[in-house]
Amino acid sequence: MKRRLAAPQPIPYQGSKRRIASQILECFPDEVERLVEPFAGSAAVSIAAAMRGVGACYWLNDGNAPLMALWRELVTQPDRLATAYETRWHEQLGREREYFQEVRGRFNHTHDPADMLYLLARCVKAAVRYNARGEFNNTPDHRRCGARPAEMKRRIEKTAELLRGAVQFSAQDYQHVLKQCTPHDLIYLDPPYQGVGGRRDSRYLTSLDHETFCAALAQLNQRKIRYLVSYDGRTGAKQFGEPLPKSLQLVRLEINAGRSSQATLLGRNAQTIESLYLSPYLSKAIS
Ligand SMILES: C[S@@+](CC[C@H](N)C(=O)[O-])C[C@H]1O[C@@H](n2cnc3c(N)ncnc32)[C@H](O)[C@@H]1O
Repeated sequence: MKRRLAAPQPIPYQGSKRRIASQILECFPDEVERLVEPFAGSAAVSIAAAMRGVGACYWLNDGNAPLMALWRELVTQPDRLATAYETRWHEQLGREREYFQEVRGRFNHTHDPADMLYLLARCVKAAVRYNARGEFNNTPDHRRCGARPAEMKRRIEKTAELLRGAVQFSAQDYQHVLKQCTPHDLIYLDPPYQGVGGRRDSRYLTSLDHETFCAALAQLNQRKIRYLVSYDGRTGAKQFGEPLPKSLQLVRLEINAGRSSQATLLGRNAQTIESLYLSPYLSKAIS
């Protein structure tokens, strides 16, 4: 049997769909012109699609502007980014704690892409967290130094090679992106988990309004646009997120995302099941 090469993940990211990307791709139609990710994060699904030659081009959007600046740098200046990461990785050795604080302070002034990559590689759970002033405030994970420079370089180069010339970036609210999509697009939506964080006044929203999101999906249905949504799910008996309403006429599938790392830490063996919803025009196209 032929072994499938693993898709690279250059940007460590909490909530990445890397582990279940191949199961999500199984629900794609045969022909995909443009794959749009309005909540791109680390873009695990687009990277996996590009690895398999699915999609002629990609639109990556995320409301977090510094993250999208990192994405731009990664694809257009991979060597520069890999070198800048390598410099930071070596500079930290022997004084990891203070160095993390220095880089974090600098990032909050400059939003330098290499600083962001270093912070994500080193912080707890690779989680992007901001305070009310919009400053990155996650803390370092003292058990790890971040991916070694040679490994990070390999991931960056591979991803840049996969996406170069075929990707557009933006840092808009998802609603603006959806308004610009057409029936030629396939949209994969992976909004932030409901009930996580959620300061409505923050510049970088960590939750979104359920009603507004459902209204945006209803608009896509009216415009005959195909999409998939990762939304609610459960770990063991614990439910997370509110299911999407029946009125949207979505087909709901369940994906086994494996053992939850949180549950494993607590000595439990709970599996995480994530819902994947297919839009009416998509389920019609693949049935
Ligand atoms: C669950 S993560 C996506 C993870 C992604 N699928 C991956 O594989 O890494 C949700 C993303 O939505 C972004 N986001 C939150 N609110 C947004 C909004 N209103 N518009 C666009 N992006 C938003 C967050 O910055 C975050 O990166």
